[in-house]
Amino acid sequence: MNETELKIRTIGDPVLRKKTKPVKQVTAEHKRMLSLMSRLMYESSGIGLAAPQVGLDISMIVVDIGKGLYKLINPRIVKKEGRQAIEEGCLSCPGISVKVKRAKKVTVQALDEDGRPVVVDAENMLACVMQHEIDHLLGKLIVDYVPMWKKALLGKKIKNL
Ligand code: NI
Repeated sequence: MNETELKIRTIGDPVLRKKTKPVKQVTAEHKRMLSLMSRLMYESSGIGLAAPQVGLDISMIVVDIGKGLYKLINPRIVKKEGRQAIEEGCLSCPGISVKVKRAKKVTVQALDEDGRPVVVDAENMLACVMQHEIDHLLGKLIVDYVPMWKKALLGKKIKNL
């Protein structure tokens, strides 16, 4: 994959709706792509980015809410606790923000960029972002949390889903 192909895909792009494939074997190429994704996330002032957002049908995310960078492969939530609702934006849904109800605490199991198993215990904002990015790997976007009546109000903005 060429660096110049790495750009953020926005709503309407079918890659955002595809369920990603898990990585069977972590290679140097995955590590390289995670670095490129992190760079793009920082350049875009994002706090998380999932592989489908850059057109890659791969189960990988990067997250940094200002407390350190996580590069995770095949992340999955193994435990959820509590509830919270935070107003969320998404680099792939420009101009849209949605208050999404999610768990307040999550435990995420994943592989790191070298293929080693890792466990991340996240709460509050970090838990929110982890759940948001893992949603991307399942083809899910914040607009899916908008109730029907509100979708009508948002109208044009989310017409092309
Ligand atoms: Ni997003």
